[in-house]
Parts: sequence; structure tokens; C-alpha cells
Amino acid sequence: MSAGSQELSESPGSNRTGPSGAHRYAVFGNPIAHSRSPAIHAQFAAQTGQSISYEKLFVPLGGFAAAVAEFMAGGGRGANVTVPFKLDAYALANHLSMRAAAAGAVNTLRFDDGRIFGDNTDGIGLVTDLTANAGVVLRGKRILLLGAGGAAQGVVLPLLDQQPAQLVIANRTQSKAKEVAARFTSDALGVCALEALDGAFDVVVNATAASLENAVPVIPASVFGADTLAYDMMYGPEPTAFMRLAAGHGATVRDGLGMLVEQAAEAFLVWRGVRPATAEVLAVLRSTIAGGTA
Ligand code: ATR
Repeated sequence: MSAGSQELSESPGSNRTGPSGAHRYAVFGNPIAHSRSPAIHAQFAAQTGQSISYEKLFVPLGGFAAAVAEFMAGGGRGANVTVPFKLDAYALANHLSMRAAAAGAVNTLRFDDGRIFGDNTDGIGLVTDLTANAGVVLRGKRILLLGAGGAAQGVVLPLLDQQPAQLVIANRTQSKAKEVAARFTSDALGVCALEALDGAFDVVVNATAASLENAVPVIPASVFGADTLAYDMMYGPEPTAFMRLAAGHGATVRDGLGMLVEQAAEAFLVWRGVRPATAEVLAVLRSTIAGGTA
């Protein structure tokens, strides 16, 4: 773990509480109504016996720093940060974990005596879902990472830490993929134009925002093979367009629900010093979404 992360876990147990006596946490975003994080953290709290409250906070664009200040003044102990504020959170933090610095974005904040610690648990969330939940060994494998925005950038270092044989970043705008790759030093890391991709990968991770518009990055079908795991960071009641495409070419597919739960578990650890078990939480969330009651 990084020096920054160690600093983050120094004092998860101070005694300031919210109005109800429970320690206050929240997720900040815009939009935020759809967020599953309150349900996930409520289950983590029950399971670990931690007394916390966790709310959704809709933040107006341009209002992130003010919203955090107000939450801290009201006894807030920590927060998750989602679209579109991860860069604002990165800028606001007084101290960054190494993984947040590498990601260039923050999805987890912890407030200790007026100081703001910023961390990023997205990358470890993806890697844990791939390795622990999906049972994929990444060491020595060929990984294709589609996209070069914040979501892609946040997972490069944790994926490289798994020592793949190759991590190829491919993005619609190739210059952005080159910029992201230039931030890391690894012989395994490469950049390729989408249309020039050739041969099957062991793992293909879709970190583009294409699924939001029911679209798929334009890639050769040859990237998918019978032994490929195609992973979309997005999730929903139905398989995404990317998952449908990959399955049509024989790949095994997985959506990003497990990543969501695992990044939350890691944030819980940053705040509370204990990492909850995730399997049952993921199963409950999956059935909620499949049942249309989400
Ligand atoms: P995020 O923080 O979620 O990564 P972002 O920074 O806006 O969001 O990045 C979105 C990513 O999705 C980019 O890699 C973008 O490609 P460009 O850099 O070429 O814009 C990619 N993306 C979005 N829609 C896409 C589509 N329809 N096809 C392919 N790539 C797409």
C-alpha cells in the first residue's frame, strides 16, 4: 500500500458524530438519484456493526467545494464522489494516496479534523472483481483497455500491478490514449489505434462512456475469442451493447456491478478500518436490479 494510503488509514476511529449519533457519510454526484451506494453501505454497516449514516447529495455543477465544506461543518466524516466531480475532489484534497495521484482522480474522501484526504478505490475495485470474484488471473495475460478518460486512467496502475504480459490502451481519440500511457512507466504498457487492434485478448475492459448511449467502440471482432473475458464497467438490468457484441463473438461477459461493490468495500475500509465481505451484498444488489425494483 502507498505511503498516502497508510496516512489515510491512520485515524478512521475519531469520535465526531452526526446529529443522530451515527458517523455521517454521503455520495456526492450530479445526477445522483440512481446511486446504489447508500444501499451498499447500509449493508456493510449492518454486517460489520458500524454505526454510520449514508446519504445521497445532489451537488450543482460548480458547487462541489461548497457542498463538501457544508457537509464537513455538519459533522461529515467521509464521502464517495461520482460523476462529474472526481477531478474536483482530486483538486480539493489536501493529501492524496498514491493510487489517487496515479489515477488523477478521487472517488473517496475522508475528513479528519478539517483535513481532506483523497483516495481512489475504483482501480482496486475492478481488479478485485476480476481476480477474487470472477477468478481471473491477470499475471502474464494480454489485457485491452478501451477508453482514455477518467475511468480508464484510474485502473491503469492497479492493472499493471497485476503484472500482465501486455496492457494495451486503445481509444477513439488516440492522442488521449498516448497521453494516459505516458503517465506510467512499464514495458507491458502499449497504445494501439482501435482499428489496428489485432488478435484475441484474455481480458477486454470497456472503460469508455459508449454504453451510456447504448453504443460500442468500433473495434475488430478479432479482439474477442472463446477464452476472452469482456468486462464492461457499466451495469444495468440488461447486458450492455458492448457485452452483447462480445458475447456474439464467443467471449464470456461481465458487467461492472462487482466493481461498484468492491470499490465501495475499499472506501469503507478507508473510512472505518474494516473491509466488509462483498459476496452477499453483490448478490442482493444483482437480484434487486434484475427484479426491476432498483
Ligand atoms: P470518464 O471519466 O467516464 O472516463 P470521459 O473522461 O468523458 O469519461 O471519457 C469518456 C471516454 O469514453 C473517452 O475515452 C471517450 O473517447 P474519446 O476520448 O475519443 O472522446 C470514450 N467514448 C465515449 N463515447 C464513445 C463512443 N461512442 N465510442 C467510443 N468511445 C467513446
